[in-house]
Amino acid sequence: MQLLDDHVVLVTGGGSGLGLGVARQCLAEGAQVAILEIAQDKVDQLRAELGDDVLVLQGDVRRVADLEATRAAVVERFGRLNALIGCQGIFDGNIPLRQTPLERIDALFDEVFHVNVKGYVLSAKVFVDLLEENDGAIVLTSSTAAYAADGGGLFYSASKGAVRSVVNQLAFELAPRVRVNGVAPSGIANSQLQGPAALGLETSKQSDIPKEDFLAQFRQLMPLQHLPTPEEYGWLYAFLASRHNTLVTGQTLVADQGLFNRAVLSSGSKAGGIPVGAAASE
Ligand SMILES: NC(=O)c1ccc[n+]([C@@H]2O[C@H](COP(=O)([O-])OP(=O)(O)OC[C@H]3O[C@@H](n4cnc5c(N)ncnc54)[C@H](O)[C@@H]3O)[C@@H](O)[C@H]2O)c1
Repeated sequence: MQLLDDHVVLVTGGGSGLGLGVARQCLAEGAQVAILEIAQDKVDQLRAELGDDVLVLQGDVRRVADLEATRAAVVERFGRLNALIGCQGIFDGNIPLRQTPLERIDALFDEVFHVNVKGYVLSAKVFVDLLEENDGAIVLTSSTAAYAADGGGLFYSASKGAVRSVVNQLAFELAPRVRVNGVAPSGIANSQLQGPAALGLETSKQSDIPKEDFLAQFRQLMPLQHLPTPEEYGWLYAFLASRHNTLVTGQTLVADQGLFNRAVLSSGSKAGGIPVGAAASE
């Protein structure tokens, strides 16, 4: 028996990075999988790669018509939905507020919040009755940036904090039929997370950071010294999306490789205290 046998799972923002890894993990765990993705090139590539195994749909989570078309396609192909997994997101470019032009703030706020927050709210609204029919689950993507500074700029961090609150409130409203949880990743290998058009950063991607520099940061800061792949996060999502999770709702699981369990005083060295013998010799 596999974790997601007899489950139909929809992953929004599943065209690359985390969402694609989650979709692959759900597939490996026996689910029938649909992906909703805005980028046509990713949709074409996935259709060519995955063929009929996965229902890959092009659409924008900000558009009700696209979500309704996705719903119709999922029902036509699979007849039901057991889990909605929200993975889409955009970054804010990590530009400090003082350096953000005042006249761009309206557009920046709307762009980041519409993809990162409204997209999850609209998806929940459009799919909730299907999920209720099957005592299903919703899993949304927050970030460690929702908990501590320096994981993104103000707009990204605030949007990820809002996702935590969406999880809290939806879990309360949809209980006992639908379980709602979040995952807060730290960093993700092979992410293509892109910046906002409002700052002209839509072609900048997290993957522009040299891979070795990104890995080095993780090795230095994280007690587990590890930058996880999307598939590794996929295990958490798959469990929370499955009917085997009868215990947890309303929680956002912080998947931080131990980061928040340390005061970052020793700058990477575990032997950050007084060197052995030094105190005695003074
Ligand atoms: N990369 C990281 O280090 C990191 C850390 C913590 C949390 N996250 C979160 O993980 C999630 C996945 O990000 P990723 O790093 O895998 O980036 P990614 O860009 O590789 O994946 C996000 C996908 O969402 C799609 N998307 C964007 N806007 C959309 C829309 N309006 N409608 C439908 N699809 C849309 C993108 O085209 C892309 O395929 C995001 O919510 C991100 O905020 C990322």
